[in-house]
Amino acid sequence: MGDIKFRIAHISDTHISDFGQFVNSSFEDGVELLNSLDPKPNIIVHSGDLTDNGVLSEYKLALEKLSEFDQRVVITAGNHDQRNFGNSLFDEFIGRLDYEIKIDDFQFLIINSAEPDRDEGRIGRRRMEWISNTLAKDKIKILVFHHHLIPVPYSGREVNVLEDAGDILDMAIRNKVHLVLMGHRHVRHATRVEDLILVNAGTFSCRRTRGKFGYSFNLIDITEEGEVLIHEVSIDYGKITLLKKYNLRF
Ligand SMILES: [Fe+2]
Ligand SMILES: [Fe+2]
Repeated sequence: MGDIKFRIAHISDTHISDFGQFVNSSFEDGVELLNSLDPKPNIIVHSGDLTDNGVLSEYKLALEKLSEFDQRVVITAGNHDQRNFGNSLFDEFIGRLDYEIKIDDFQFLIINSAEPDRDEGRIGRRRMEWISNTLAKDKIKILVFHHHLIPVPYSGREVNVLEDAGDILDMAIRNKVHLVLMGHRHVRHATRVEDLILVNAGTFSCRRTRGKFGYSFNLIDITEEGEVLIHEVSIDYGKITLLKKYNLRF
């Protein structure tokens, strides 16, 4: 393996709550693991369901909890975050729903795939146009949204794939997007479709784990040679396991 050029800590589905499905002990263990990583991640990305019910007490608690990370966390909104008019609170406490971040050679587009009080995801044509127009030619391009673009195995009956998944997948492949980071299914998984690498994160701290997957987050290392190493960091066992290794294609 070559030297690490860029490291992404990909966390998801924290479901932070003062009364819901939040498991504080797992969150605390996860923060400790993440903060002790060496080298430190260049960015922490949260792919949604920050809160469990999208209510005020949860957003307040979420802000406190997020401050435990040594670095800023970039967050996309999930379906749970937009329950109970939570979209207005996301706006106020966390920030915009759709935006771009550039760090070194990397471009991240954070995209809202969720809608108020609805579990299904949709990106829509207007947003798709914004994505196509904003993607840079000379960067490693990474899309972040909550809902999964293709079915995720081991997560039970397949529901809530993006309604416009076919169009989004085609647009991402045509625009030579390199990586898509998603959550929602609470199962970590990585696969490749043509040149596009699709990565799902498991749940960081929601009681609703699947089978024996437990609590986890992903660690994605991109090397100087253009290798992409996708690791699962098990919070239960404090163990890092390589899930998949790909090469970036340009
Ligand atoms: Fe979730
Ligand atoms: Fe979700």
